[in-house]
Amino acid sequence: MSAHDTTEPNRRDFLYVATGMVGVVGAASVAWPFIDQMRPDASTLALATIEVDVSALEPGMSLTAKWRGKPVFIRNRTDKEVEEARAVALTDLKDPVARNANIAADAPATDADRSAGEGRENWIVMIGSCTHLGCVPLGQSGDFGGWFCPCHGSHYDTAGRIRKGPAPENLAVPVFEFISDTKIRIG
Ligand code: FES
Repeated sequence: MSAHDTTEPNRRDFLYVATGMVGVVGAASVAWPFIDQMRPDASTLALATIEVDVSALEPGMSLTAKWRGKPVFIRNRTDKEVEEARAVALTDLKDPVARNANIAADAPATDADRSAGEGRENWIVMIGSCTHLGCVPLGQSGDFGGWFCPCHGSHYDTAGRIRKGPAPENLAVPVFEFISDTKIRIG
């Protein structure tokens, strides 16, 4: 075999090299728009906090706001719904932790610790993302009258606590506060 024979790439080598280069170019052109999307623009930053008018919500009604790209459920619960949630023993809960960003991380999942707090116990504010795989649960449905996730059958009670199905945790309560009797700031 001559020196020439060993350095000249044969056809298979050439195809391999060419394919490799296309791969690199392809990866680069995909990476740029992806990185660009990760940079928050002004409109995204503006939505870091939202204010929601809840004056139209009579007891038993709810609305879904959009915050940081996620649905947020706001429900004005009826007295009956609050009573039902209060009557549940903590030992019956699959997830006994409140998951409420406004209080201690280890607070128990009592109805009071899931709700908007003293004097506003009828209000509940939660991220509308099933804790199983992130589907958006349906309100006023399911075996416990709270929310039902049809994706794989998770049932949440009227305090948004997981009671049946594959979801491991209660629906998360985001940072929020009532800034007036009819307005909630989220974030
Ligand atoms: S995503 Fe809700 S049950 Fe699976």
